[in-house]
Amino acid sequence: MRVAVIGTGHVGLVTAACFAHVGHDVVGMDDDAQKIAKLNRGEMPIYERALGAIVESTRAAGRLTFTTDVCAAVRDQEMAFICVSTPPLPHGGADLSFVENATRRIAGAAPKDLLVVEKSTVPANTGAWIERTLAIYAGPGPGGGVEVASNPEFLREGSAVYDTLHPDRVVVGVKSPRAAARLRELYGPIFEGRFDCPIHKPCPPNGEVPFVVTSIQSAELIKHASNAFLAAKISFINAVADLCERVGADVAQVAEGMGLDPRIGHAFLRAGLGFGGACFPKDIRALLRLAEEMGLDFGLLREVDRINRHRIDVAVEKLRKALWILRGKRVGLLGLAFKPHTDDVRQAPALALAARLMEEGAEVVGCDPQARETAREAMPSLAITDDPYEMADGAEVLVLVTEWPEFLGLDWARVKRAMRRPIILDGRNALDQEKIRAEGFEYLGMGR
Ligand code: UGA
Repeated sequence: MRVAVIGTGHVGLVTAACFAHVGHDVVGMDDDAQKIAKLNRGEMPIYERALGAIVESTRAAGRLTFTTDVCAAVRDQEMAFICVSTPPLPHGGADLSFVENATRRIAGAAPKDLLVVEKSTVPANTGAWIERTLAIYAGPGPGGGVEVASNPEFLREGSAVYDTLHPDRVVVGVKSPRAAARLRELYGPIFEGRFDCPIHKPCPPNGEVPFVVTSIQSAELIKHASNAFLAAKISFINAVADLCERVGADVAQVAEGMGLDPRIGHAFLRAGLGFGGACFPKDIRALLRLAEEMGLDFGLLREVDRINRHRIDVAVEKLRKALWILRGKRVGLLGLAFKPHTDDVRQAPALALAARLMEEGAEVVGCDPQARETAREAMPSLAITDDPYEMADGAEVLVLVTEWPEFLGLDWARVKRAMRRPIILDGRNALDQEKIRAEGFEYLGMGR
């Protein structure tokens, strides 16, 4: 099928590359001329496993091209996916001006019968606005017959290509059976496993992937509610973690015992420094705002947010207890990205922690296998090194902030020799505490 993807951020670029990888003809469009020039040179604007390889192979096969011209991107296509960003406004609601702008420009260039699909995470009812906007701004050309659908994305950064090619469900919000049938055809190669997995070889076949057909409003809400629910799970276990410390329990054991109930499950019950990234923090606030606009108080989400922000206070308090005075002490942060396998530092707990410690006069040094440049840009005042052992040199405490495999396998004897005082705060409860203690460290966990 012929597909345009408007916006080549994390979701847009992965979507474009994966659709091309499974055999469709895709044009990726972005207003950022520098980014498009980079993509046309074969350079990746973000770090994401296997993304570079599939962009390169699909470009070479002529199935993936990039442009800054909306008209050229949309002309002759069967579908146009809106994947532009929806950043937070000061009141927490989503800024939909990029969605509106993309829609207006699509309207002017839309061929007859184009299916416009929203993939950006948007508040319920955005689809209706897109429909209205398309009607208002439709050009004099063939235009008519343009339909709107919603197809929310559930990919995780760091495993975005894998998640797109191996979805646990595909949700489509539509107004007609025909739109659902067209989207099903688009996903056909993925449902039937007709592609070469660029990550796992041999790759386990996709089982029966549920194709969930709903109204547009329901699809929009499925996405927001899923993210909010996952965030709530994390805040729940973090609140339990604080209680564990008071009563002398270990939150890892509690989560293990809870997760064995299939109604609860183990996923997203890892206590620690809390969630970051471009999605959860923004999405819970946007959903809270949407509820407010609808005259409802979804106070649970306010608490999810509060508990999450409080994780940084909890960590600072632990460091204060361990070091007494933070001023002048060297603190090393193992990990800057908001989670492993990405270079994304948006809303990263590491940067929030670094800012707090620097305010208190600590000498903070960070280290990350992928997020050096992004962290440097986001926080120029933070000292960053490539080498965790150099970071440990003279440090009084190391905080594991991002559980990169590289950090879990450090030579701890060497780390200890380099440190002034051997204290580890395991902000993700990801280290083997017995082993760390046996190496002679003072081990501090989160709720253990
Ligand atoms: C999240 C959702 O998981 C995806 O399904 C969704 O498509 C995506 O947002 C989006 O809306 O685009 P992502 O933000 O990439 O994906 O990352 P997650 O793997 O969900 O992790 C989010 C944060 O929660 C990370 O900071 C992670 O360290 C933290 N986390 C995760 C915990 O603190 N504990 C856990 O048990 C799990």
